[in-house]
Order: sequence, then structure tokens, then C-alpha cells
Amino acid sequence: MANLNNSGEREQWGSKIGFILAAAGSAVGLGNLWKFPYMAGKNGGGAFVLVYFIILFLVGFTLMLAEIVLGRYTQLNAIGAYRKIGKKWAFVGALGVLAGFLILSFYSVVGGWVIAYLVKTLTGALNVTDAEVLGNMFGKLISGTTEPIFYHALFMVATFLIVLGGIGGGIEKSSKILMPGLFVMIIVLAIRSMTLPGAVEGIKYLLVPDFSKINIDVVLDALGQVFFSLSLGMGCMITYGSYLSKDSNIPESAVTIPLIDTGVALLAGLAVLPAVFAFGFEPSAGPGLIFITFPAVFAQMPFGTLFEIMFFILVLFAALSSSISLLEVCVAYVVDEWKMNRKVATVSLAFVIFLLGIPASLSFGPWAHITLLPGKGFFDTFDFISSNILLPLGGLLLCIVVGWIWGTDNAIKEATNEGQLEFKFAPFWAFLVKYVGPVAIGIVFIRSLLG
Ligand code: PFF
Ligand code: NA
Repeated sequence: MANLNNSGEREQWGSKIGFILAAAGSAVGLGNLWKFPYMAGKNGGGAFVLVYFIILFLVGFTLMLAEIVLGRYTQLNAIGAYRKIGKKWAFVGALGVLAGFLILSFYSVVGGWVIAYLVKTLTGALNVTDAEVLGNMFGKLISGTTEPIFYHALFMVATFLIVLGGIGGGIEKSSKILMPGLFVMIIVLAIRSMTLPGAVEGIKYLLVPDFSKINIDVVLDALGQVFFSLSLGMGCMITYGSYLSKDSNIPESAVTIPLIDTGVALLAGLAVLPAVFAFGFEPSAGPGLIFITFPAVFAQMPFGTLFEIMFFILVLFAALSSSISLLEVCVAYVVDEWKMNRKVATVSLAFVIFLLGIPASLSFGPWAHITLLPGKGFFDTFDFISSNILLPLGGLLLCIVVGWIWGTDNAIKEATNEGQLEFKFAPFWAFLVKYVGPVAIGIVFIRSLLG
């Protein structure tokens, strides 16, 4: 039985920076590089970014701290952690594990596209300037049957191979390579993009808000995106927090991790949007932005292929350090609660999630006509149910359980290591978790469901 080390104790992160990199690795992912730029593009650039920031400050930091504290206190997976606070709350953790399952299934499909694009870049197939040709190429890939499923399988294999290595030897070790590599590459790309002639328009687009674009659906989209991007609302940070030692500094981590994630989301916007403007493309190109518009941009740039290889490696690194955390949420549950062998749990869960991803992949092609929700096929339904329903609901219930059931005094005691650490904002955090979080999430959520 694992989740335990050789001396029979629960596995722990090897170092403080190891945990930060792993948790930041979970946060920084396709959400930042693939979703954020096109959502900002669709929802009026700076207007979306502004709403995103408000939600980040009101609930992002707050919930990050709540999840990590709950995990370290209970030293358990998401379901076990909620159950320890009160038997009837175990279902909150179960919603989380379900969300992890769903997210990983479609996440891995996109991860597969990234591998496919890395291969295409290396073989020179992407060296095309015509956005229409590139659009057809992307359409052909995602609407196929065997090709996208093959790459989806490959991505899933890479994910479970890392998770098989356990917390220290797998997740932490890989994050220590993936994350620094990612930071260097995104900075290089953002500089390259912002120094192109005409780039200023893209920077303005990202930073100057147009308030006429803001409505309740944009706010729900931004809320869902904050949860998705910070890996909140489904017990991922509970799970990662459960491998922390009792002397770790949680208040500090809860600030650092969201800052890194948001920094990378902005850098991604600054890498993608100025380049898109500089070459005269449409910023609102949708999910295809990084697979269609961006390659067209690279093809026109001196040494573009080099930058493009760097870009897709970067996206792959980000996707992997997140997918391993999604799988770990499920693995930790099965290992803790069902006492299953860790290796068996990892491989079988990966396989089941791979199967679930198949309809998500096919919904871009042969199964495009099947809709589960109005106008939404498998992929969009999985994305909508997890990002716009399960994560906000999980976040709302997290606030209630930590703020009202377990209680903020207990949580603060745990967060400060029994008063040994300074946590100046403790009273403010308590206020946010008890009142602001539930009310804000509740209003947006209900308002949007009512349509
Ligand atoms: N935060 C990841 C991203 O932005 O791509 C996605 C994610 C990972 C969501 C882990 C939830 C999670 F538990
Ligand atoms: Na993210």
C-alpha cells in the first residue's frame, strides 16, 4: 500500500520549493496558455482581465489557503478530508473527484493535440503562413478518429508514468524540471511577441477594459476560469496539501501559487495577443488561437520554427504538470480509502479516464452531431459541467465547510502552525471565507443558472 513511505508514514514533499513548484505546476497549465488568451479575446480583452482580477483577489487567494489548510490538517485525500470535518460533507470531496475525472478526460485530449503539434512543427508540416490552410489542418486533426485518440493515449501514458513515481520521486521531481523550463520559455516568447512591430495594439487589447462587454455570463466564465486556472474547487490543493509537513508555511504558499499562475496567464496573453495583432489576425479566434493563429504568426517570424518548437514544448510541460495533479486527486482517493496499491490505482484510473476522453475527442468529428446539453457535445459538456458547475459549487461548499463547520479559528490555528507563524490577514481571510466567498459565488452561480 502506498501514499506511505518505507517507514509506513504518509509520503511528503521533499522541500518547500518542491511543494510550491508542484502546486504551481498544477495551477499553470492549458488553462493559462490555451483557455485564458481566447477567453480574454472572446470577452473583450481588458474587461475580462479586470473581472478575473477582482475574483482572484476576493476568492482565489482565500480558497487556495482554505484548501491547503484543510489538506494538511487532515492529511487525507479530498473525500477523506471533508469526511473528517463531518461525515455528511464527504460528498463535497466526491464532487471534486468527479470533477477531476471529467477534467482530465478532456484535458488529455487537448494535451494530445499539443503533442501532435509538436510533432508537426518538428517535421516542418506547420511551416505555412496561410491561416486558412492552418485552420483546415487543425480541423482535420481534431475531427479525426485514430490520430487524436492516439495522441490522447500518448499524453495519458506520459501522465501516469510520472504519477507512478509517487509524490517525491514522480510529481515533485518532474515539476522541478518542467516549471523552471516553462518560466524561461514563456518569458522569451513574451519578449519576442511584444517587440514585434504593431504589438502595442495587442498589449492595449489585453489591458484596456471595455466595460460594455461585462455581463453575468462573462462573470461566471471568469469565475469558472479562476477556479480552473488555480486548480481550486475540486480538492486538488487539499490533496497536494495533505503531503505537507506540519512546519510548512501555508499563508506564504497560498499567496505565491496564485501569483505564479496569474503571472503566467498574463505572460501567455502577452505572448499570444501582441503577435496576433502584429500580423493582422483576429484575437477572438476562439479555442483555435494557439493551434491556428499562432502557427501562422510563427511562420512569418524570423527563426519562427525555433520559437514554435519552444512554444509547444512549453505548452506540453504546462499541461503535464497539471494533468498529473488531476490524476493524483483520483489516485489519492482510491489509495487512501480503498487501500488499493498505488501503482494499480494509477494505471487503472488512467485507463478509465482515457476511455472517457474518447467521446470527448470524437465530439469534434464523427460524434459532432451528438449533444448532451443544448448545443454542447461531449467535450463542451464535460468542460461546462466541471468548470462552470462542479468547481464553483465545490468552492462554495468549501467556504461553508471551512468557514462555518470546521470554523475559521481552527483553520487559522492550523494555518499559523498553532500560532508560530505570522498571518497578518487572518481576520480578513476569515471574513472572506465566511461571507464574501459564499455570497459572491452563490450569486454568480444562481444568477447564471437561471439564465
Ligand atoms: N489549473 C489547470 C490549468 O489551468 O490548466 C487545470 C487544472 C488542474 C484544474 C488541476 C483543476 C485541477 F485540479
Ligand atoms: Na492555470
